[in-house]
Amino acid sequence: MLFIADICGKAGRQAAAHLTDILKEKFKADFVIANVENAAGGFGVTPEMSRKIFAYGVDVQTSGNHIWDRMAILEYIDQEPRLLRPDNYPKTPGSGVYIAEKDGVKMAVVNLMGRTYMLNIDCPFKQATKILSSVSKETNIIFVDFHAEATSEKQAFLYHLDSRVSAIVGTHTHVQTADEFVTENGTAYITDAGMTGAYESVIGMTIGPSLGRFLTGLPKRFTAASNDVKIAGAVVSIDTKTGKALSIQRYIYDFDIEKIDESKIAILGYLPKRERKVDISEDDNDN
Ligand code: FE2
Repeated sequence: MLFIADICGKAGRQAAAHLTDILKEKFKADFVIANVENAAGGFGVTPEMSRKIFAYGVDVQTSGNHIWDRMAILEYIDQEPRLLRPDNYPKTPGSGVYIAEKDGVKMAVVNLMGRTYMLNIDCPFKQATKILSSVSKETNIIFVDFHAEATSEKQAFLYHLDSRVSAIVGTHTHVQTADEFVTENGTAYITDAGMTGAYESVIGMTIGPSLGRFLTGLPKRFTAASNDVKIAGAVVSIDTKTGKALSIQRYIYDFDIEKIDESKIAILGYLPKRERKVDISEDDNDN
């Protein structure tokens, strides 16, 4: 399974548009999951963007606290079960669980959100147990995107679900951690997979307003940054019979829209000759 970490703004969307199939080829991934909660200028995702991201080769999209930032998503999320919101939101449209089937193999993607320094929604620990009681009857391949701020809550969550799920990949902080490992019980874990977006930034947003807010305490208008773009995430290899993780590897690669071919060579070691099947034009003005 290839996981693409939080796609942030236009820079992140462009990197995902051009590199999803390249990473899929490099890692021989069968299934692609991407967190899209910051795809629209850092705040939510629009239905149009979500459709495009599916077309890039993403199978399931996860999200987090920013999922409701674009009103149009309220209707879309009920019609598109492959776009998940944290399942521990009390009463909102959409769902945090999707069971996919590919080449006769069933796999579940689960999205939950932490509560430490975040919204005080339903307990993710209890909700996870509730979800697993039904999902485990359908498949033992279970991937969890745990969207949370505190490292402690993420690590505790691992030990709550250890052996019961195939992988727990943390999202939300936008900074990749160097702590990936697979437990003795076969659960892969990383505290945070990082960000797909512009790194000359404060977690993906332009530096000026972010710094200004800390200096003055005044609200500022944030826009997604565009310089020093990277694609980041993790790859988890799972035994399809047992549902146990065999390995986890994090990745982070530079992406330059002006030198797309060089970015592809840097990742694959060669330039793929095939033509793209999907339209990757970025015709919207939303940053
Ligand atoms: Fe978030």
